Formats: sequence, C-alpha cells, structure tokens
Amino acid sequence: MADEYLWWKHGLIYQIYPRSFCDSNDDGIGDLQGIASKLDYLVELGIDGIWLSPINKSPMDDFGYDIADYRGIDPIFGNNEDFDHLLDEAHKKGIKVILDQVYNHTSYKHPWFQESRKSKKSPKRDWYIWADPVGTGPPNNWLAAFGGRAWAWDHKTRQYYFHSFLREQPDLNWRNPEVQEAVFDTMRFWLNKGVDGFRFDVINFFIKDKKLRNNPLGFWGPYPRPYDWQQHIFDRDRPEVHDIIRGMRKILDEYDERMMVGEVVDEQRDPGLPTSYLGFGTDELHLAFNFALIYERWSAKKFMEHIRYYMALIPKEGWPCHVLSNHDFHRARSRYSFGRHTLARSKVLAMMLLTLRGTPFLYYGEEIGMCDGVVKRSEIEDPLGKWYWPIVTGRDPFRTPMQWTGEKYAGFSKVQPWLPVNSDHTVINVESQRRDPDSLFNFYKRLIKLRRDTPTLHAGEWLPRRSHHKVMSYYRVHKDQRMLVVLNFSRRGQTIKHKHNRRWEVVMSTRRSVGDKITGNVMMCRGYEATIFKEW
Ligand code: NOJ
Repeated sequence: MADEYLWWKHGLIYQIYPRSFCDSNDDGIGDLQGIASKLDYLVELGIDGIWLSPINKSPMDDFGYDIADYRGIDPIFGNNEDFDHLLDEAHKKGIKVILDQVYNHTSYKHPWFQESRKSKKSPKRDWYIWADPVGTGPPNNWLAAFGGRAWAWDHKTRQYYFHSFLREQPDLNWRNPEVQEAVFDTMRFWLNKGVDGFRFDVINFFIKDKKLRNNPLGFWGPYPRPYDWQQHIFDRDRPEVHDIIRGMRKILDEYDERMMVGEVVDEQRDPGLPTSYLGFGTDELHLAFNFALIYERWSAKKFMEHIRYYMALIPKEGWPCHVLSNHDFHRARSRYSFGRHTLARSKVLAMMLLTLRGTPFLYYGEEIGMCDGVVKRSEIEDPLGKWYWPIVTGRDPFRTPMQWTGEKYAGFSKVQPWLPVNSDHTVINVESQRRDPDSLFNFYKRLIKLRRDTPTLHAGEWLPRRSHHKVMSYYRVHKDQRMLVVLNFSRRGQTIKHKHNRRWEVVMSTRRSVGDKITGNVMMCRGYEATIFKEW
C-alpha cells in the first residue's frame, strides 16, 4: 500500500471521552458498551478511527489520567470482555481503535507506587523520582502543571516524590530501564490484543534533569497562568526523551500499520516543539498534535501563519496532524461563536480541518457544534475547577454529555449524568441535525466522504496561497489534479486574485452551487464562504 494511503494518514480520527459519550447501564456515566452501541453512528459519519480517552482502572482523581492498572479496564466503563467486544465490533465495521496511555505518571494507587513508597530500600523505589529535602524544603523549585510545588512530602520515608500534575499522580522514573521494560510490555499487551495505536499523554515530560537543576523563573506563556510562573527547561523536553520515543516506535513497527500520536505540551505554543518529536519522520512519533490553532483567535491571517509554520517544520517523511478541540480546551464552537454567524464559522473551520494535508482529529460532539456547557460551582468535578474557581472554572464544560437527542438527558442516559447536559441540547443534537440538510452534521458527513473519495484532498501536496487578512486559501495538488480551497473568515464579501487565469469548478461550497464554473484571475467570495474548487 502506498504510504499516503495508510489509514492514519488519510483517515479522520474521532476522540471519545468515554465518561460522556453514551451510558448503557444507566449509572449516569458513559461506558464501553455505550460506545459499541454507537459504532453505526460513527460509520455513518465516516470516521476511520476512534481514540478513547483513558479507560484503564483508575481512582479517577484526574478522570483516568491517573492509571492504577495499565492492563485492566475500570469497572465504571466495563471489563476486559467489553473492551474485546468493542475492539472486535469496531474492526468489523472498519474502525480502528487507539488507546490513551498515560506513561509519564501513574496513580498513587498503582501497585508500583505503593511498593515504591514502602521504604527507601524497596525494589521499586527507583521506579519513581524520589529526592531528599534541601534544607527544610523541596529539592528544587519545579512547579506542577496544575499549580503549586511539584514535590510531595512522604512522611514515612522522609523524602519528596515528584509529580508533574496532581500529587495523586507521581511521575515514573523513565531513566530506570526496568520502568522502560514494564511500559514497553504494557504496550505489547495492547498491541497483541489488536489495538491500532496509542495516544501518549504529555510525552515530552517523560525525562527530567538528572541533577534536578532549578528552572529559571519568568513568565513565558501568551496568557497569564496564575499557577505557573517558570520556564520548564529542566523538567520537560530533555534530550534523552527522544531515545525513549525511538524505542517505542521500534515496538510499534514490529506490528502492522500501528500508529502513535503524542501530546506535546508546550507553554510557548510553538509548533516547532511538537514537530521535533517526529524525529526524521520515520523513527519517532507518527503524529504530534499541533495545538497552535486551539489558542488562536478567529483570524485567517493568524491561522495561516501557524499552519504554514507548522507545515514547514514537518520532516520530509513526517505527517501533519490538526486539531481544534479536545477534553482540555474550550470547544471550537464556543471559542469562535459570533451570534447568528456561528454556524457559518463552524463550517469554515470544518472545511479547513478536513482539507489540510494531515490527519484531522475530531472531538466528540464537534460534528454537531456542541458548545461549552454551563457547570455550576456545586457541580464541578475537575480538580482544576475545584481549586481555581472562579479564575479558572476547570475542564468540565468541555466534557459534558454527548447530545444525541432533545430528550431530558439528551439520549445520553436515562438518569442524571455525571456532568449536567447542556441546555442547548434541545436544539443542538444528532437526531435533529440528521434531518436538516443544512446542519453542521450533514456538512461534516459530506466533507468527510469527499475527502475520503478524493486522493488530492487526503494525500495531495498542500500549497498555501499568498496571505490575505480575511481569506485563507490554498491549493491541494496530486498527480495532474489541482484543487483550491477558499475560506472566507469575514462576514463580508472579499476578493482574491490569482496570478494566472484558471478555470475552476465548484466541488463543495457553503455559498455556491456544485458544478458552477468560474474563469479569470479575480474571485469574489461571499461572507463566510467555504468552497472547494477543482481545476478543469
Ligand atoms: C494531559 C491530559 O490531556 C489532561 O487531561 C491530563 O489532566 C494531564 N495530561 C495529566 O495526565
């Protein structure tokens, strides 16, 4: 199979936050059987793979990003048989399954940590990062990503342990070869079962400075984070992490067509960081999310700058990966809402996501334009929200139940769900959008099909056109076909000029009829027009 036709290159991957997708046993929390019952919906939408946010056994201090058993399924979601069933069914329907694996840290309840904390002499002591106090305080100034010191004091053994996130999430010591082997074995366990790949959590955090040097202080991000005022030079992105990733890649390469996508967290939002984790494009991550767009305001020019920059940094044999929403960020629909133009904007974004070169990721509910939910203080579940309310309200609003229908609990469950259902579910839901030919859902469906059926759109080169303040436009070129994508980010009409006279035919558009032909070197675009043309 030609390289560009690999499923994870031409396909679309759909992120499911299992707690919030579909509840099959009426306990208010989504589960694996619920997901299995919605596979036909995913086939209808046209997606190629699902990424499941963590389903492993966990005390849920960080809703699964704190794993206590890498091989077991949390009973909230079902059991290993339910997983095998889901995997089988998904494969039968042509859907690949990617697991979220969290290897930077475990839960403090993981038997490895329980053993490690028993005594300084424990055989697993060095599986985590332990250090003596310096003076009367922690070993250095490192701060946790969720705020406060990254060192927690252990009374019993009178040492500190390191945690990049919550104190309930102690970091593994990846410098220890036993840890590496244990994790690699876990990967093999899931690969042998037939999972198609992994999403690796905070992969750039794995290795920390050996000497535990202090991080330089100073504010480094584009917007103030009250809880993090240092540059993470020594606790993240250490050069040795690339050796680990190369080791992981070798394991995946022993199997057929498996893929690993990495979350590379970067306070500076520099697209150069994720792309550096692709190595030569063949030896490290297959994909690394580009989060730059998630932080960007609604601007054709800014979007284009980020995309150009990111694309330019992708190694020759690497592959881009685009994302607009996930379980940690405000939903794209809410970030860019603009009164009655909101739907038009969502369509512009959808067309961009599906026509860029690279693998698009879609967050559950994005296809129907789900918005951030409203979660009252008393309903907050996310520890970030509990601590920082009202400065930061946490990530619950981005994780509310999937809106299947206009019924009381949105068809997600028959009982009150773990997070409140958005009140807009009476209007924004799958059932009603299926019936409406102009809905975002049907727009996504058509786009996904077009992308799948058109090699130029899923495999072609990406050639940006001259930058324009309001209109983003680029060509996709494959063999002898050239396509043009025009996305007007403004509600007013705009004009774009081509150097040469070309003849274009509309393939799909929000404002033109399919089959319409235009010639000449000047093109008028209507407000929020999103059009794919092909040259004829
Ligand atoms: C990144 C994940 O996306 C986030 O949800 C989680 O809280 C942290 N990593 C810690 O695992």
